[in-house]
Amino acid sequence: MTGHAVIRELLTDPRVSKDAYRHWPAWIGGEIAQSWPLAIWVSVQNMVTAYGEDHRRLRGLVAEAFTPSRVARLRGRIEGITGEVLDSLARRPGDVPVDLRRWFAHVVPSRVLAELFGIPSGLRARLGRIIAGFFDTSASLEEARCNGAELYVTMNELVAGKRGEPGEDLTSALIAVRDGDGARLTEKELVDNLILLYTAGYETTVNLLDNAVALLLAHPGQLALVRRGEAAWEDVVEETLRVEAPGANGILRYAVEDLEVGGVVIPRGDPLVISYAAAGRDPAVHGQQAHLFDVTRATRRNHLSFGHGTHFCLGAPLARLEARIALRGLFTRFPGMRLAVAPRRLRPLESFISNGHRELPVLLGPVDAGRE
Ligand code: HEM
Repeated sequence: MTGHAVIRELLTDPRVSKDAYRHWPAWIGGEIAQSWPLAIWVSVQNMVTAYGEDHRRLRGLVAEAFTPSRVARLRGRIEGITGEVLDSLARRPGDVPVDLRRWFAHVVPSRVLAELFGIPSGLRARLGRIIAGFFDTSASLEEARCNGAELYVTMNELVAGKRGEPGEDLTSALIAVRDGDGARLTEKELVDNLILLYTAGYETTVNLLDNAVALLLAHPGQLALVRRGEAAWEDVVEETLRVEAPGANGILRYAVEDLEVGGVVIPRGDPLVISYAAAGRDPAVHGQQAHLFDVTRATRRNHLSFGHGTHFCLGAPLARLEARIALRGLFTRFPGMRLAVAPRRLRPLESFISNGHRELPVLLGPVDAGRE
């Protein structure tokens, strides 16, 4: 489903479910092999795959721990982390290409999430590698299976560690919800929701940073608007989310009963893929120039890249805050930064879910040490 209006309609329609165990006959009947590389996206039981009352319960419990004040408290740490990442970039020669996806877009979100979840340093690199594999839709069956298994082992290790030694972090807060009254949150739901929060919050934010940097460097006129104060970093973030949705497609949803949408009947039990990326470029909303990056576009906030309706992204305030801080810091510190290859040579990731680049080679140029 690709049109903005149709997607909005489907995302708020109670006859559309995300729970394969209840509403996808092919899954229930065992027709879908557990070895299918994307099976983990369907089998995982957390709020994003929950339906109706189950979803309300899980979302409410996670929201109890993942509060706006917790995000607001992270602001200083996000600024500190960004500063440290930029310091380490500034130690590199400015005239040798550096892959900013790897050394900036990955590092900031992974360190912010490590802070949010209280992830010990010993687990950080392992988790980063697992998440990269999770979004690789070209992975072999065996790779996807091993990766899924390793994700559970690692998250269980995190939970065991935090049970023994709780902290001020989100993991400990969710464990407290679970241990306070086990009837509200099962152990599997606890681990699955941690996996959800971590996976949903990582690669998507990496892509947002990667895409924003690539777009600004490929469109110097747009960057100049921001530098002159004629557009804000917030506008860059929203326009990037619109034109390059970090999660291009959302899998899967299921028709609880026969649905008629835009003159087409979706039979009960059929799976649906929602294309957030296509919605962001719908000419009916954004005009004939919908494909262009324009930070002053009147409709820049009118995207569905954080979803819509009951499953609207719980981490949107964190992602927006983090992207504004990180992008402002990067472009202030390296005022002469430019792409090291022509924009058309930037290669997309091999994934129809994760929308970013395989590498983002740039020349940092001279450092502006006095500002950030
Ligand atoms: C640019 C960054 C991000 C993007 C583009 C994004 C996108 C999305 C989208 C499209 C959905 C809806 C999924 C659906 O309806 O099936 C969603 C849900 C969710 N996101 Fe994000 N997300 C981002 C960052 C984050 C962060 C930083 C976190 C937390 C650390 C997070 C946590 C969640 C959670 C928990 C849900 C599930 C909400 C529910 O099912 O009720 N996201 N996100």
